[in-house]
Amino acid sequence: MASGAGRATVRSLDEEVEDLGKMAEDVRAGLLSVPKDLSPWPKYFYDARGSEIFEEITEQPEYYQTRTELSILEEKAPEIVRRTRCRELVELGSGSASKTRALLDAMMEAGEGPVRYVPFDVSESAVTGSAERLLGEYPELEIRGYVGDFDRSLERLLERPDPDGPGRLVIFLGGTLGNFTPERRREFLGRLKNGLGERDHLLIGVDLVKDPSVIEAAYDDSAGVTAAFNKNLLEVLNRKLGGEFDPDLFAHRATYNHEDSRLEMWLDSEITQNVPVAALDIEVSFEYGEGMRTEISTKFTCESVTGAFGESGLRMLDLYIDDQDLFGLALGTPA
Ligand code: SAH
Ligand code: TRP
Repeated sequence: MASGAGRATVRSLDEEVEDLGKMAEDVRAGLLSVPKDLSPWPKYFYDARGSEIFEEITEQPEYYQTRTELSILEEKAPEIVRRTRCRELVELGSGSASKTRALLDAMMEAGEGPVRYVPFDVSESAVTGSAERLLGEYPELEIRGYVGDFDRSLERLLERPDPDGPGRLVIFLGGTLGNFTPERRREFLGRLKNGLGERDHLLIGVDLVKDPSVIEAAYDDSAGVTAAFNKNLLEVLNRKLGGEFDPDLFAHRATYNHEDSRLEMWLDSEITQNVPVAALDIEVSFEYGEGMRTEISTKFTCESVTGAFGESGLRMLDLYIDDQDLFGLALGTPA
């Protein structure tokens, strides 16, 4: 499973990256819940096509997150590298790794021995693509990419052969933490904490609470890219589980839920219909206008990030925020 010789390797961490039995179990539970809810499993969005559409989302004018997070990174990377003294950058859900250069540049400039980059993503195309690109751009960089699912392989990813090695900075950008339910978020941060050593740090991108109309627009761009991303989930169900969803018979909806401080994406059935899903041996019935939740994206405040870190045994050292208070980067370490 290794590809590329020398400075860049890409390996698979799970025995099988794709576990269709588990997927069937998850999707069955989601389709049978009331309301129908696939949001506990955001990873199913990211097939090769989903990863591609997500990149397009990040370029939409309404989607302020990516450019804002990049601007914070560009400004703060030297300080973050100085504070953490990291020589290894581990990136969870790395995607196209387009913002990572800011940190890699700062690590290179700190110039204290070799720098290693460890991207980790469930999307194989994302890991190989970004490894190839960065290899070309950074002749000195060692890249160890892993394809895997952090639901299963976080511990293996963070195991380290050399406990006395230099400090690692584990980054989790793009507001992806907000896509977890509160329970899964707690579990995830707890597992992350357990995998970190004393000298390791964590940097997590979080989208901040703000005017709901700004948030809703970011998840309902006028070019329809987010709508296409949402509907691509139906194509994934069709291809992998033998579903017969017609994406044209569902409407994309993005709604801010005040009570839970989160944006929710839904697909609303535009007609009354029964949709067979062969691998589940069921027909899913939708009433006219019935919605299925597909994704949540929690928005944070300084207090709620501090709380989320604290309940998982992490200490927040700083929350770096842009000058319009749109997005934050939380720096933490095991408590
Ligand atoms: N970090 C990038 C991408 C964010 S999108 C950015 O900031 O732009 C979320 C990324 O997490 C996608 O690349 C997706 O493939 C990955 N991902 C989602 N669920 C995952 C899981 N369970 N295990 C590993 N990667 C996952
Ligand atoms: N982590 C990103 C976010 O919550 C993921 C994302 C952006 C997303 N746009 C989306 C997920 C649309 C699903 C649908 O902002």
